[in-house]
Amino acid sequence: MTQDELKQLVAQAALDYIKPELQPNAIIGVGTGSTANCFIDALAKYKDEFKGAVASSDATADRLRGHGIDVFDMNDVESLSVYVDGADEANRKLHLIKGGGAALTREKIVASISKKFVCIADESKAVETLGAFPLPVEVIPMARSAVARKIVALGGNPVYREGVVTDNGNVILDVHGLSITDAVSLESKLNNIVGVVTNGLFAARPADVLLLGTKDGVKTLTVINTSASSGEFF
Ligand code: 5RP
Repeated sequence: MTQDELKQLVAQAALDYIKPELQPNAIIGVGTGSTANCFIDALAKYKDEFKGAVASSDATADRLRGHGIDVFDMNDVESLSVYVDGADEANRKLHLIKGGGAALTREKIVASISKKFVCIADESKAVETLGAFPLPVEVIPMARSAVARKIVALGGNPVYREGVVTDNGNVILDVHGLSITDAVSLESKLNNIVGVVTNGLFAARPADVLLLGTKDGVKTLTVINTSASSGEFF
């Protein structure tokens, strides 16, 4: 199976997984990226069975609306039963690196009000140690160089993602050279640098479930069953 086929497979699995949540008053949290796009396209077939969605980016909002799905301002929504989104890396604790598509801040905000975060990814995203994928950090533009110096002092190698402006009007530093053994602590340290909006570690609020598309089918991983087992894909 190709990577695209694996993305389609996990998107369909996510739809099956969240079907019980599709109620007339339900608002679903929807993430950003190519895997999330597959999920949106699958979700569209059920658009008359739920109320609408909260989007984690302008691109996702546009795609949802293109399918005739209502998009709600998060200020009008107290909580979400479920949020479905992709990831750039996931470890056995279901800590994630996200933000390859520069939507990390809104993704983290939507995840923060969601009772259940369902992460969908192809098998290439499962790692023992986070950090081979450069960690995205969203930064207020005037603080770019100051933040970069602080990140160097923490042992990272920040690279300015030129030409990219986030939906919030900010810039992205991609931090190379990290081997992240304590994701909760690093997430907090980076977020405490003045000028950082947020970083792409989702560890304080990890995924609750990881649906991983593999050559042998979709594996459903949770922290409980991942810590109890070992081997390929945890
Ligand atoms: C966007 C993200 C995406 O979820 C992440 O980059 C994965 O994308 P894809 O599904 O295209 O591989 O965090 O900011």
